[in-house]
Amino acid sequence: MVMCIRVPKKEGETVRSALAESGILRSDHRIKAEGGFLLMPVSSDPGGWELTEADLEPQEAAEKDYRALSEVPAELRHLLPGSYDIIGDVAIIKLEQELLPYRHSVGGALLRVSSNLRTVMLDSGVKGEFRVRDLERIAGSGTSETVHREFGLRMATDPAKVYFNPRLATERMRVARLVREGEIVIDMFAGVAPFPLVICRHARPGRVYAIDLNPAAREFALRNIEMNRIDRIEYITGDAREVIGGLPQADRIVMNLPQMAYSFLPDALARTRTGGTVHMHAILERTEAGAFADSLLEGIPHPARLDRVSELKTYSPTMSVYVLDIVRC
Ligand SMILES: C[S@@+](CC[C@H](N)C(=O)[O-])C[C@H]1O[C@@H](n2cnc3c(N)ncnc32)[C@H](O)[C@@H]1O
Repeated sequence: MVMCIRVPKKEGETVRSALAESGILRSDHRIKAEGGFLLMPVSSDPGGWELTEADLEPQEAAEKDYRALSEVPAELRHLLPGSYDIIGDVAIIKLEQELLPYRHSVGGALLRVSSNLRTVMLDSGVKGEFRVRDLERIAGSGTSETVHREFGLRMATDPAKVYFNPRLATERMRVARLVREGEIVIDMFAGVAPFPLVICRHARPGRVYAIDLNPAAREFALRNIEMNRIDRIEYITGDAREVIGGLPQADRIVMNLPQMAYSFLPDALARTRTGGTVHMHAILERTEAGAFADSLLEGIPHPARLDRVSELKTYSPTMSVYVLDIVRC
């Protein structure tokens, strides 16, 4: 028996591609149709769909490992990373210093194992308050500007100009599935607006306010809103701490600025209706996440309770990114 999720057929392709991009979809078993549903084999619970077990047919996994094709000295091979990000047709990979002389071979290997890629970028880190990436093209052609597909939406972005994280696809869908009809939603750190777009496509909010400091984020977000024919998003360029005070009380607030969202929590809770939820992201030492959650609300001048804590992704050998769902009382 294999762990799998039960997904309505009409959502099948969008869920399948999001799971594949986030590395959760298992390729060693076939997806099976059952009534109006698809049973998709997963390596962990992505949240948002019924988790079950089923007898799925095994299949040979295709050779997809770029490491087998990278020409690097044998003693450095163990340094080749096991994962990298794909945004649209752009792969973004981080390499240890020792591998930099071989970066073009690594980039070429990535292009060979994935026919959907146009270019491969070396990522030297996220910088500045706009959280943009320092990128160098190591294989392929063109710039890092691309259109990423997620849950039936097209999202134009350029990781050299604006932050975008393809690994949050299932978290965006989880939040969208919690949104009830008519909700007022605020995304305090919206980037190119992936949370607002997924929420508007897969739920029926009354209005979604999307805030970001970065003017380039606004340009991409407005293109995305138009390209996907979404009409309930109001995009505001500015500092969320200043902007949020002028917005209506919200039923739901998304705070995807994991380095410092906690410092904005009092402002967010002040704008949340009783019974509303703040989804706050935080980077925490895995050994300290429990203690952080226990003391999270101490000293916060608004009544609230912690409803749920979930690990979203690994950040470093000892740290992870978490999402904390905090309900205003
Ligand atoms: C981690 S990114 C999140 C982007 C988006 N939510 C996503 O999932 O792709 C954080 C964003 O917050 C923006 N930002 C940083 N400080 C801000 C502030 N004080 N007010 C509004 N936006 C801010 C950055 O420009 C960046 O786009």
